[in-house]
Amino acid sequence: MIEFILNDKKVTTDLPSGSLLLDFIRYEEDLKGTKIGCREGDCGACTVLIGEVVNGKMKYSNVTSCLTPIANVQGKHVVSIEGLNLKNLTPVQQYMVDEAGTQCGFCTTGFVVSLTSFCLTNETPTYEDAIASINGNICRCTGYKSIERAALHITESLKNKSTDDIISWLVEHHFIPDYFTEIQSQLSDIQPVKIRENAKILVGGGTDLYVQQHEKMVELEITALVQDEKIRFIKFEDDICTLGAATTVSDMWDSPELNQIFPKLKEHLKLVSSQPIRNISTIAGNFVNASPIGDMTAFFLALNSSITLEENGKQRTILLKDLYLGYKDLDKTENEVITQLSFEIPTKNTFFNLEKVSKRTHLDIASVNSALKIELKDDLIQKAFISAGGVGPIPMVLSKTGVFLVGKEINAENIKAANEILQTEISPMSDVRGTEEYKRLLLRQLFYAHFMKLFPEKVELGELVIRRS
Ligand SMILES: Cc1cc2nc3c(=O)[nH]c(=O)nc-3n(C[C@H](O)[C@H](O)[C@H](O)COP(=O)(O)OP(=O)(O)OC[C@H]3O[C@@H](n4cnc5c(N)ncnc54)[C@H](O)[C@@H]3O)c2cc1C
Ligand code: FES
Ligand code: FES
Repeated sequence: MIEFILNDKKVTTDLPSGSLLLDFIRYEEDLKGTKIGCREGDCGACTVLIGEVVNGKMKYSNVTSCLTPIANVQGKHVVSIEGLNLKNLTPVQQYMVDEAGTQCGFCTTGFVVSLTSFCLTNETPTYEDAIASINGNICRCTGYKSIERAALHITESLKNKSTDDIISWLVEHHFIPDYFTEIQSQLSDIQPVKIRENAKILVGGGTDLYVQQHEKMVELEITALVQDEKIRFIKFEDDICTLGAATTVSDMWDSPELNQIFPKLKEHLKLVSSQPIRNISTIAGNFVNASPIGDMTAFFLALNSSITLEENGKQRTILLKDLYLGYKDLDKTENEVITQLSFEIPTKNTFFNLEKVSKRTHLDIASVNSALKIELKDDLIQKAFISAGGVGPIPMVLSKTGVFLVGKEINAENIKAANEILQTEISPMSDVRGTEEYKRLLLRQLFYAHFMKLFPEKVELGELVIRRS
C-alpha cells in the first residue's frame, strides 16, 4: 500500500506502485486541474509540487506528475493546483490574471504550480530564479512576455519574505493555504518507506522509463530507488567526492560544496532538461539509459569517475567509462544496482568545463556534448580527460587526445593538433540531429570552446578557426 498526503488529506492506494501520480490525481481523486498534455515531461501541464522533509524542514519541488510513479511519493506531500486555492486568488494567480498571462488556460495551472514552487523554495528570490522555475512549462497561446511580467511582480512581492520560516510567511501573505503549516508533523505519522523486496524493476526518477515504456510500467510493482536514503547522498572524504546513485540533478544543484568545487555548476546543469525534470531525474538513470548523449554521463566521464554496482550483497567497482560496451550494451547484469559514483575532488590547478549543443536551450537532448577536465603544473598539462557524446555508439572518453595533451602548453597550435587526433577517435553517424560532417564540426567547436572558456588569456578564437573569405 502506498500512503501520502495529497493537498490537505492523507490518501492510501493499492494501485501498482509503478502507476502514475498524474492518473491517481485525475482518475482516483477526480482532481482535474492537473492537465494531461504530452505525457512525456515536455509541456508542464501536469506539474505538481512534491514536499518532503530534508534536514528537518519541508522542501518543495515542482515535478512532472506524468512521469512520477506513486512509489516515489510514498510518505511525501503532493500538492495539485486545487491544494493551492484559497477563497480569493493567491498573488501568483492574481498576477497571472492582471498581466493577461492566461488565455485558453490549459497550461495555466502548471505555470501557477511552478511559480508557487519558486515562492516556496528560494530563500533570496530573484527574477532569474522565477523564470527558471517555469522553464519546463510551455504555453501555446498567451506569449511568454505576459507570464514573465507576472513572474517579475511575484518576485517583487517576495522582497520581504522571511528566510527562517518560509511556509508561515507564505501562509500569512496568502500565497498558500494554512494547512501547509501542519504537513511536516502529519508526515511523521506515515510509516517509513518500504522498498519493495520482490519488485525487480529499478526506477530512479522515471524520466526515461515512463517516456519509453509508459503502458507497461503503470502495471508493475517497482523498486523506488529515490526513496532509498542509502543511495541518495553527497559526501566528501579526504580528496574523494561520492554521490549516491539516486542523487538527482537538483540535489547536485543545491549542494553548496559541489558549487564550491565547480564554480560554474549551475551554468552547466542549466543545460540539462528543465527544472521539473532535474528535480526527479537521477544520475544513475542517466548512466543506465546508456544514451550516447547523456549529459550527466559526459559530465562524470570527464571526471574519470568510478561507479559501484551491487547484486545480492556482492559489490564491484569499475570506471564509469568501462560500463559502456557497445550501443545500449552495458557491463551490468539486469538486477545489478548502481549504488554510488566517486571522483577525485578537483584541486585548484584543475579546470573543468561542460558544453552542449541542442536545437533548443531547455528540454532538449544534445546533438553533441562534451566535458573537459585538465590538470596543470607549471603551465603544462599534467592530465587531460575529454568526454564526448553523440559522436559514436556510446558516450566516449577520448583517451588518445588526452594522452597527446599531456606535457603540452595550452596554445592554439597544440589545441588544433589535439583536434586532429580527436577526429580519429570518433565515429559519428548521420541522423536526424545532423550529418556526420556536421557532428565532427560541432565537436571540434565544443573542444575549442572548452579552452576558450577556461583559458581566455591563452587562446583566441581567431587563432583556432581559419575564417573563410
Ligand atoms: C523532457 C525531458 C528532457 C530531458 N532532457 C535531458 C537532457 O537535457 N539531458 C539528458 O542527459 N537527459 C535528458 N532527459 C533524459 C532523462 O531525464 C535522464 O536520462 C535522467 O537522468 C534519467 O534518470 P531517471 O532517474 O529519471 O531514470 P529512470 O527512467 O528512472 O531509469 C532509466 C534506466 O536506468 C535504470 N536505473 C536507474 N537507476 C538505477 C540504478 N541506481 N542502478 C541500476 N539501474 C538504474 C532504470 O532501471 C532504467 O533502465 C530528458 C528526459 C525528459 C523526459
Ligand atoms: S503532460 Fe506534458 S509534462 Fe506531463
Ligand atoms: S493559455 Fe493556452 S496554452 Fe497557455
